[in-house]
Amino acid sequence: MKIRAINGFKDILPDEALRWQYMEKVARDIFERFGAREIRLPILEKTELFARSIGEATDIVEKEMYTFADKGITMRPEGTASLLRAFIEHGLHVQQPVQRLYTIGPMFRHERPQKGRLRQFHQMDVEVIGASEPQVDAELMAMGRMLLDELGITASLEINSLGCPDCRPGFRRRLVSFLEERRDQLCRDCSRRMDTNPLRVLDCKNPGCREQVQEAPSILDALCGPCDGHFAEVRRCLDSLAIDHRVNRFMVRGLDYYTRTTFEFITGDLGAQAAIGAGGRYDGLIEQLGGPPLPGIGFAMGMERIALLMAQQETSLPGPHADIFVAALGEAAAAYAFGLVHQLRRMGLKAAMDHSGRSLKAQMKQAGRTGAAFTLIIGDNELERGKATLRNMETREQESVPLLADATEQAHSLASRVRENS
Ligand code: HAM
Repeated sequence: MKIRAINGFKDILPDEALRWQYMEKVARDIFERFGAREIRLPILEKTELFARSIGEATDIVEKEMYTFADKGITMRPEGTASLLRAFIEHGLHVQQPVQRLYTIGPMFRHERPQKGRLRQFHQMDVEVIGASEPQVDAELMAMGRMLLDELGITASLEINSLGCPDCRPGFRRRLVSFLEERRDQLCRDCSRRMDTNPLRVLDCKNPGCREQVQEAPSILDALCGPCDGHFAEVRRCLDSLAIDHRVNRFMVRGLDYYTRTTFEFITGDLGAQAAIGAGGRYDGLIEQLGGPPLPGIGFAMGMERIALLMAQQETSLPGPHADIFVAALGEAAAAYAFGLVHQLRRMGLKAAMDHSGRSLKAQMKQAGRTGAAFTLIIGDNELERGKATLRNMETREQESVPLLADATEQAHSLASRVRENS
């Protein structure tokens, strides 16, 4: 019996990994352009960290976490809580009043697997801690937009404001009394949510619930002066950077820590899984986790979803091409090539050869498959005469090159030749 991977856990095979490497490279580059520094975090955390940040009454904490109950630890379902835990634990704010941090890695949620939804999935997560200005909200959305643009992905940006502890309770009361009158028409989950987390009813996917909330009061009409001003300024900043966006007053997010701005990058190309990335502001959270009273905002991009879109939209990737293939015929030539390839690699080139003594034709085919820019052909006779043939695989031009007895010197001269060409 073959052993297969667990449902919802996926291998990323070499062809697919190319896409992932490219995605990560572009992301790191952009994060760094915006001044973010990498932080690497553990996968296991105390369960309480997630209960206190994401919220006891959320789907994630209630039913999706991989928890070792006897040990009180959980496999992280997202990155923000862990990142803030580390930020507080190491007092990072002391070094620098505003910290921009990013982290990339696997997250775990026990959801029903489907296209774009896994139980082990990966996020690229960016957080800015210590800045409350609306410019920062817009800057982060601009960063997300830049990342998707550079990966060739089209997505729309939706934004909302969830207010703050001053204005949200009043809205919540108004919403509950609105929903009370319609309790019978809501789905079972929403009827329960009304008591625990009534805002979640607003983004229930059930068509019946959707219809009921169409006339619901809007949180945007209930914002206090400062929250209203913040939201208007965020929108103005987005406009000033020409970042298209749409206000979605039903966007609530599945995590409880948000205040003020929330946003999602949405696509219609992934079936039910519309969100490619999402985030928002969490101004009270750091204090709530025992840290200093600092504001924060961030977002996370779902890497599986980006990879799927890159595949669908045929984002062109730089190939894994070899720089040079060394085709050797005969034992002495193969022994020479063995040393030469090693020296070429030491010089930073991607060099390849065959070890099984195949025919020249077969080796040339193999050279083609590696995508090598050049092939150096060395026959036993050529070795004796101190000459080899260098073939430019693209132009198919061939020339005779001197073969030096010393493989290191030979590698030097070939390396400069290959680099000249690229
Ligand atoms: P989230 O909306 O739960 O937010 O997840 C962010 C992104 O992760 C989603 O938009 C989606 O692309 C991806 N994602 C989530 N669950 C899955 C899954 N089961 N399979 C595949 N992809 C998934 C957060 O996690 C927040 N920590 C974001 C944030 C950062 N807020 C502030 N800072």
